[in-house]
Amino acid sequence: MADKKQLRIGLVGTGLMGRAHANGYNRIHNFFPALQYEPKLVAVCSRNEEKVKAFAAQWNFESYETDWKALVAREDIDAVDICTPNDSHFEIALACAAAGKMILCEKPLARTLEEGQQMVDAIQKAGVKTTVWYNYRRIPAVTVAKNIIDSGKLGKIYHYRANFLQDWTISEDLPQGGEGLWRMDVGAAGSGVTGDLLAHCIDTAMWLNGGITDVSAMTETFVKQRMHQLTGKVEPVGIDDACLFHCHFENGSLGLFESTRYARGHKALYTFEVNGADASLKWDLHDMNRLEYFDHRDESQTRGWRSIHITDGDHPYIKNWWIPGCGIGWEHSFVHQVADFLKSLEDGSKCSPTFEEALQTQKVCAAVIDSANSKSWKDTHVDGKYVW
Ligand SMILES: NC(=O)c1ccc[n+]([C@@H]2O[C@H](COP(=O)([O-])OP(=O)(O)OC[C@H]3O[C@@H](n4cnc5c(N)ncnc54)[C@H](O)[C@@H]3O)[C@@H](O)[C@H]2O)c1
Repeated sequence: MADKKQLRIGLVGTGLMGRAHANGYNRIHNFFPALQYEPKLVAVCSRNEEKVKAFAAQWNFESYETDWKALVAREDIDAVDICTPNDSHFEIALACAAAGKMILCEKPLARTLEEGQQMVDAIQKAGVKTTVWYNYRRIPAVTVAKNIIDSGKLGKIYHYRANFLQDWTISEDLPQGGEGLWRMDVGAAGSGVTGDLLAHCIDTAMWLNGGITDVSAMTETFVKQRMHQLTGKVEPVGIDDACLFHCHFENGSLGLFESTRYARGHKALYTFEVNGADASLKWDLHDMNRLEYFDHRDESQTRGWRSIHITDGDHPYIKNWWIPGCGIGWEHSFVHQVADFLKSLEDGSKCSPTFEEALQTQKVCAAVIDSANSKSWKDTHVDGKYVW
């Protein structure tokens, strides 16, 4: 449509998330044609010129940069999308705020609570619009779970439990640090599975079930030292390979969370279950178009877990895709976040989670690490002001 308004995007980082986001922007024209705004892919940035040039051509960016500072300085860019490892979110976001750019930042917001707080201060001072890519909220079955919980159908909620299990770091020969393995280096990542995987679980949990007040956690680093790719030396490993924590929610329910990269056989098994007095629901990333629902009020002879295929036209986001019964995938959650961001420009709403909301998750992650290190319960310092 010729009369569309444009959101001029500059994207930094061309790895897994660079591709997932670039795909998201590219799908909008075809699948969300009613939006008043459309993304214009002005520039992409990565440090290797040959690779970033190829990426720009492959994903329809008009130009490229090899220094993110040059990208942030460009006047033909409205919004910067930060798809780099965790140790650069802080610096890039602060520069964007100073330049008055909107920011779409990958999760976790930052490596530490202190960095996250400064990022929030900076964007509030600058008055720029933000969103953080906790994309699981925008998987239609997860959004339906939110709608069911908000409707009160579950009754009083007693339990929330979530897992995020992987198995890719079991080999003791796997190095740490550098391109592709920055997640293994605590300096680059900030933490291990807590910030990488549990942050997703915590964001979803607080979105669905409200604030977490206090936590008791244990972490383990199974392989204590690994060769560092950047120094070539064997160095201590500072990340948590596994983390288990339990917690109280503000609504009085109890939470139980587990994440590890040592669960042989599991590649990305994200599951959650919520138990209320009247009904329960559960979801599994490996079967992401389904939501399992049990309602105790059903007639007793046919009562049981229902497996709802979340692919009908009146399910969230689905009408923009194919026909009822035909599922969508993980990548669509990123398309949905782009669509919601563009919609929020149209109607002046926020695109949750904002930096402020993602800081709440950062606070819980910080309390989890603090609790594990001190072997004691820790308050999350969440102030109860949930505005999801
Ligand atoms: N939302 C999700 O489901 C999800 C999934 C994976 C990763 N993430 C997050 O996305 C971010 C990126 O993760 P990834 O898996 O895409 O990592 P990746 O290693 O696949 O890609 C990172 C990219 O950033 C580039 N890069 C690093 N430093 C740079 C710099 N200073 N300037 C320009 N480019 C730079 C690298 O060259 C690479 O292209 C992380 O914060 C991670 O936690 C989120």
